[in-house]
Amino acid sequence: MDTEESRTEENRAGDAERRKPAISLDRLSSRYRLEFEELSTEFHGKCPVAWNDTHGGYWFTSGHKELFDLARRADVLSNDFDVEGVRRGYQGISIPSPTGERRFRGGFLEMDPPEQRYYRQALNPYLSPAAVQGWKPVIEEITRACLDEKIESGRIDFVDDLANIVPAVLTLALLGMPLKDWDVYCEPIHAMVYTPMDSPLYERVRELQMTMGVHMMETINGIRNNPRPGLIDELVTCEINGYRPDDMEIFGVLLLLIGGGFDTTTALTAHSLEWLSEHPDQRERLSRERETLLDSATEEFLRFYTPAQGDGRTISQDCVINGTEFKEGDRLWLSWAMANRDEKVFEDPHTIHLDRKGNRHNSFGLGIHRCIGSNVARATFKIMLTQVLDRMPDFVCDPAGAVHYDTTGVINGMKHLPATFTPGKRLGAGLDETIAKMQRVCDEQRLAEPVTVRKARAKLDD
Ligand code: HEM
Repeated sequence: MDTEESRTEENRAGDAERRKPAISLDRLSSRYRLEFEELSTEFHGKCPVAWNDTHGGYWFTSGHKELFDLARRADVLSNDFDVEGVRRGYQGISIPSPTGERRFRGGFLEMDPPEQRYYRQALNPYLSPAAVQGWKPVIEEITRACLDEKIESGRIDFVDDLANIVPAVLTLALLGMPLKDWDVYCEPIHAMVYTPMDSPLYERVRELQMTMGVHMMETINGIRNNPRPGLIDELVTCEINGYRPDDMEIFGVLLLLIGGGFDTTTALTAHSLEWLSEHPDQRERLSRERETLLDSATEEFLRFYTPAQGDGRTISQDCVINGTEFKEGDRLWLSWAMANRDEKVFEDPHTIHLDRKGNRHNSFGLGIHRCIGSNVARATFKIMLTQVLDRMPDFVCDPAGAVHYDTTGVINGMKHLPATFTPGKRLGAGLDETIAKMQRVCDEQRLAEPVTVRKARAKLDD
């Protein structure tokens, strides 16, 4: 055996020694979804950080403290997706790694500082709490219109008719895109999360994605030539660490904003409504005591359902953290979802307590990549939820029609959630008319300006 070979042999033996304790969990399998509670409890007890031998092997962090100590260590973690192989060859935040189909970075979520920090500085004024305040009348009006479309019939699909639409229209408004185009994005964005590549439906999803991609590129160019306020305008004019992002980079950021904005808020809303239907006494209490309960209930639904279940990293330098020896190049999964069920931090972790106090959940992530859209998400969720409580207080979801994602290892989402309720009266115009009106409001009042320029709330009265 020559020196090279014996060194490789030694490395392998060393890896086997340090990659302990070991587990074998395919996050994309039904076992992950069906045995989630048992697996969480087992891992917290035995191996809060473990080597998972599926998908090429990676560290799996399930413990709350362990995740807290790791996720904030930007000095030893990288989010970089090195598509061209010109840096260190890292594979970004997806585990398993992206297939040959995805040859662009997922926006600044797959970048490290300083670039990532420049993007956040540029986009924060569009997504801050003060900026979101300005949008609330618009969110309320779109929600009202969605419910009006169904209120007289006594039937609704909470996913298709509400939770898919409101976040989609709002995200397009924030971006400065035409609101009426929300359905170009809605189906492909949701379907690409839950349709596996071997599904017969995948071809259609690909076609929808192509249409969406062309639309996105046209919109980027359109806004570059004819500026209109919004996140896209910021992206085509901003400087990132001394350079102007090219179209492909902007495309990745846009997809990140659209993906981040759509599926997660939809997933949270659908699951919460399903739970409230199953617990009518809790629903009445939440409605009655919303002044004091709505905030804590929102955080508890976020904790319990954790719409974005986890994210990947690459270890960027050898280090030992809490006794685990990590080597440069190792992959790591931060399981926000399992850390959110850690019994060392959350009493009775597998039960929803609407009034849970000091809820230190990780559902928006931790550290430098923490969700930049959390204010938008919370506001949108609360508006949808309270309007349903007000206008459809006795809704009953149909368990036979409720469809959860087959694979929940990335997004814990729902495809459908049909429900019935006592019919009520419409309060205003339908969805198309309302979207057209909101477009006029956005344009005339330049609502999508950053909060540094525009501070007033949207005014909807004619
Ligand atoms: C309930 C809704 C949402 C949940 C649960 C959620 C969850 C998350 C999580 C866990 C991260 C951190 C990922 C990581 O560290 O690897 C994140 C990042 C991000 N989210 Fe959200 N998100 C939500 C809504 C939104 C919305 C509405 C937007 C846009 C308007 C958005 C845009 C982003 C962006 C751009 C990042 C990347 C931040 C960075 O890399 O610096 N998210 N989100």
